[in-house]
Amino acid sequence: MKKQKTDNSRLKRFMGLGVFLLVGGVCLLLPLQGAMGQQAKEKGGFALKVPFGLDDPAGYIPADNPLTADKIELGRLLFFDKRLSKDNSIACASCHMPGVAFTDGQQVSSGIRRQQGGRSAPASINRLYSKAQFWDGRAATLEEQSIGPFANPVEHGFADHDEMIAKMKKIEGYRKLFKKVFGTDITIGGVGKAIASFQRTILSGNSPADRFDMGGDEKALSPAAQRGLVLFREKARCTKCHSGFNSTDEKFHNLGIGWDTNTVDLGRYMVTKDPQEIGAFKTPTLREISRTAPYMHDGRFGTLEEVVNFYDQGGIKNPHQDNLIVPLKLTDQEKHDLVEFLHALNGEGWQHIASPAEFPK
Ligand code: HEC
Ligand code: HEC
Repeated sequence: MKKQKTDNSRLKRFMGLGVFLLVGGVCLLLPLQGAMGQQAKEKGGFALKVPFGLDDPAGYIPADNPLTADKIELGRLLFFDKRLSKDNSIACASCHMPGVAFTDGQQVSSGIRRQQGGRSAPASINRLYSKAQFWDGRAATLEEQSIGPFANPVEHGFADHDEMIAKMKKIEGYRKLFKKVFGTDITIGGVGKAIASFQRTILSGNSPADRFDMGGDEKALSPAAQRGLVLFREKARCTKCHSGFNSTDEKFHNLGIGWDTNTVDLGRYMVTKDPQEIGAFKTPTLREISRTAPYMHDGRFGTLEEVVNFYDQGGIKNPHQDNLIVPLKLTDQEKHDLVEFLHALNGEGWQHIASPAEFPK
């Protein structure tokens, strides 16, 4: 939530509008509109609607996977289709449910044959703005993340991607769609690109916090939430890690979650083998946070009050704890205000996304 960045992107948006009006005006003067419309369609360009408060998407979409309407729609089908699991019981949407900001409300998720994984499903919103995906950042891109769950024995349950592609190739409708979108038969690379494109359209912005902080709408936040915002940035030190417009530094930190159990998850260390990252996890976005309980990578906290108490105590001490985590000495009133502010981070940009009415045959 840096002021400067917003001003820039507001300026850009404003300039964008100017160009739009200019081009639109020319189109009305000369009977070119039909031709131009067709050109845009042929290129398949897709203008992503970005809610207020979020960064310009342009810099975040990889050059080799531009957004197109057809590709996004294919990705939506794949995301919701349970046939993309070994026994037709699980889709991405089973654990990332549209009704709850694309998480599942469970402490840890259940996959195929009700098997449980060891981590809580993150709200898969604003993934557009992250490079490293998963709690431990093991997928370097959203394309890579988008194919991981299929070959996970406790998620979609295929032995490998080849097994899934062979199953998909029996669905003629998918072969046609892949031909249309990629000009090829079904490939795992295409699956990844389509699902990643769909996921890039699941956004959350225009929250009361955005409207207050960047839109200058003084009434958007209650007085308690306004005090909470100041605490979030100052005394409670949350922005040391939950910084910027998506409330994350995109870095990995050890808060101590799990160090009070005998099954510590080593997190980022298992990916990098860097001892500095033992027990470190990615700072998650806090957008939609009051809708996406339970919290933390092991889903241990059911409420935001518990989360705030955890930080107030200085997390859970361990030899690898991040030194940004210190006891906060918040009063009860301050804890309450901070939670009020967290509730103001719910926004919009994902609610319109629903399961397809039917799937390719
Ligand atoms: C069985 C439940 C389950 C299924 C099915 C599932 N996920 Fe997940 N998802 C999870 C869990 C649990 C995590 C966290 C795992 C981790 O970080 O190690 C996760 C993490 C993610 C993330 C990372 C979010 C972040 O903040 O880094 C994305 C994106 C995601 N899933 C999308 C998908 C897609 C796309 C599919 C289908 C191909 C899918 N998931 C299938 C449970 C599931
Ligand atoms: C040192 C960096 C750091 C600081 C400071 C910090 N956080 Fe976090 N936050 C994280 C990380 C990393 C996680 C995930 C940790 C895990 O699961 O092991 C997290 C998780 C959370 C979650 C759970 C998110 C979810 O989707 O499950 C909430 C809520 C949260 N933080 C709020 C806050 C608040 C409020 C403050 C200030 C009082 C704060 N954080 C301070 C790094 C930080």
